[in-house]
Amino acid sequence: MSDQEVKTESRVFPPPANFVANAAISGMDAYNALCAEAANDYEGFWAKLAHENLHWHKPFTTTLDESNAPLYKWFDDGLLNVSYNCLDVNIQKGLGDKIAIIFEADGGEVTKVSYKELHAKVCQFANGLRSLGVKKDDRVVIYMPMSVEGVVAMQACARIGATHSVVFGGFSAKSLQERIVDVGASIVITADEQVRGGKQLPLKAIVDEALGLGECEKVAKVIVYKRTGGNAPFNPARDLWMHDLVANQATECEPEWVNADHPLFILYTSGSTGKPKGVQHSSGGYLLWAMLTMKWTFDVKPSDIFWCTADIGWVTGHTYITYGPLAMGTTEIVFEGIPTYPNAGRFWDMIQKHKATIFYTAPTAIRSLIKAADGDAAIHPNKYDLTSLRLLGSVGEPINPEAWMWYYRNIGGEKCPIVDTFWQTETGGHMITPLPGATPLVPGSCTLPLPGIMAAIVDETGADLPNGQGGILVVKRPWPSMIRNIWGDTERFKKSYFPEELGGKTYLAGDGAIRNKETGYFTITGRIDDVLNVSGHRMGTMEIESALVANPLVAEAAVVGKPDDTTGEAICAFVVLKRSRPTGDEAKQIALELRNWVAKEIGPIAKPKEIRFGDNLPKTRSGKIMRRLLRVLAKGEEITQDVSTLENPAILEQLKQAQ
Ligand code: WT7
Repeated sequence: MSDQEVKTESRVFPPPANFVANAAISGMDAYNALCAEAANDYEGFWAKLAHENLHWHKPFTTTLDESNAPLYKWFDDGLLNVSYNCLDVNIQKGLGDKIAIIFEADGGEVTKVSYKELHAKVCQFANGLRSLGVKKDDRVVIYMPMSVEGVVAMQACARIGATHSVVFGGFSAKSLQERIVDVGASIVITADEQVRGGKQLPLKAIVDEALGLGECEKVAKVIVYKRTGGNAPFNPARDLWMHDLVANQATECEPEWVNADHPLFILYTSGSTGKPKGVQHSSGGYLLWAMLTMKWTFDVKPSDIFWCTADIGWVTGHTYITYGPLAMGTTEIVFEGIPTYPNAGRFWDMIQKHKATIFYTAPTAIRSLIKAADGDAAIHPNKYDLTSLRLLGSVGEPINPEAWMWYYRNIGGEKCPIVDTFWQTETGGHMITPLPGATPLVPGSCTLPLPGIMAAIVDETGADLPNGQGGILVVKRPWPSMIRNIWGDTERFKKSYFPEELGGKTYLAGDGAIRNKETGYFTITGRIDDVLNVSGHRMGTMEIESALVANPLVAEAAVVGKPDDTTGEAICAFVVLKRSRPTGDEAKQIALELRNWVAKEIGPIAKPKEIRFGDNLPKTRSGKIMRRLLRVLAKGEEITQDVSTLENPAILEQLKQAQ
């Protein structure tokens, strides 16, 4: 986005008076004071917050250990337990009978679980895991539907110090197997099936397929939550039902006290090269930020009904379903289904029914629901009572100002601030976001960094750029919830996030950004690497290319993103077959085959929206594929760049046509 475009957005929405009066951070002066506190005494700032907000079994004495930078440690000689902080602490505060989770199933059935009940379930499952020999530092893969049991499984791992790695239920057997192998899991927790949009979809069968792909000998047990009672394969020698495992377990479980930097979880995410990276997160620093962002960004209050629509398979579900809301003693909604079933009014119906007060979703969902509401007046949000809402949030990709305005008017009734939260799997929680009781909102801008987050925009050499000039988004100081490592690959961790060119200690987010000249507000301009954002899901172009060339028909493939009205970006693949270039029906047939192939290799979210076949790809004389030109072609635009350095400029004409 150019400077010009950023400045054309002149609408400003000041924080509503009721927010200013009651918010955790009230007014810009309070925000600035916190930022100044962090700037003046960085470690003191964080130490105070960590002491105030977390229950420590043994308090830490060292706040930040930079001796092995960029392998930073936070609060690490302190001992704590994340599950204890989420459950026991709140029960001790008298919240035992408060509803922790309002679960709504795909078909609409509602189950409510109190803090006391959740505590008992987590303890029983934790004891069950211990009875199988699972202990601190073991890795447990969780491949589960959105469910109370999914949250219980994660919390139970945390309770006994096992490190979980949740794999989104939409990933294929192959993707699941790669993660099981890379993380070295000894246990897999899954369900017989998941239910989405009225359909029963296999999970256990996919786990079996994944384990059958090899190298999974370490997996001793597969624990199966019976969701549907459907026809899932079951191997009694290896598999056991979750209900059998917990049946006779005690409802108390002594937590494993772990050092603050003990890995709470490893979550795989796509990078620009190679296989997905296992992003390793801490226990103490991570939980602290999950709590603080619940307070600061969402201004969560005891009476709130909080709803984050993400899946627990993504970091948003980790921080803003499993950990943040529970650590704050909040009542939250957990939803099994999809926004369009039984119709596209499902979200609005659920907000009305459960009187949700805070609603946090992705721009891609908003955009698709705008379309649906335009097409069907019966499910337009104005048909529902949404007056319980007081705050809206957006996450995962830039929100375009039109979608922002629609969200603001139609869902928020022009009274709810929208927090456009910029963050990443690696950051653990929000980084740049408005504060509802302080920040004047500008549609399309994630505004300003949270207190303590030293975000900046620099050039390729790491030099600061003035406001108004686009550059690379970095964070100049480590912060408690930051990624600790890439599981099993410290070298890649350093190269990806702390490159030498930037001095080796500055966190490189991988996004471009620009700050407004007058306000200093940040606008994210998109990834600066070969990572796509499709419906808020992060996909590496290389991963999709590797999947395509693994097909016996394919000789070569190049994948680029193109702008899409609903999904933000769409995947466009340029493919050269080993046989001659197909046209007409044959091209359609092979494109279909390849799309299904990618779904099988990675998962349906990685399916290219468009596939174009060529005799070749545009290459430089040294053989480098010119993705820059492919991006222009994918958009359907004319190439205006100089193509004289191309080995084969004629190929551009052929690839211009969508098939
Ligand atoms: C990438 C991170 C954040 C948790 C879910 C996605 C993009 C995320 C925003 C936003 C503009 C955003 C960035 C970032 N992104 N939020 N509010 N405005 N861009 O986590 O899968 O790790 O993806 O999503 O490009 O780098 P993720």
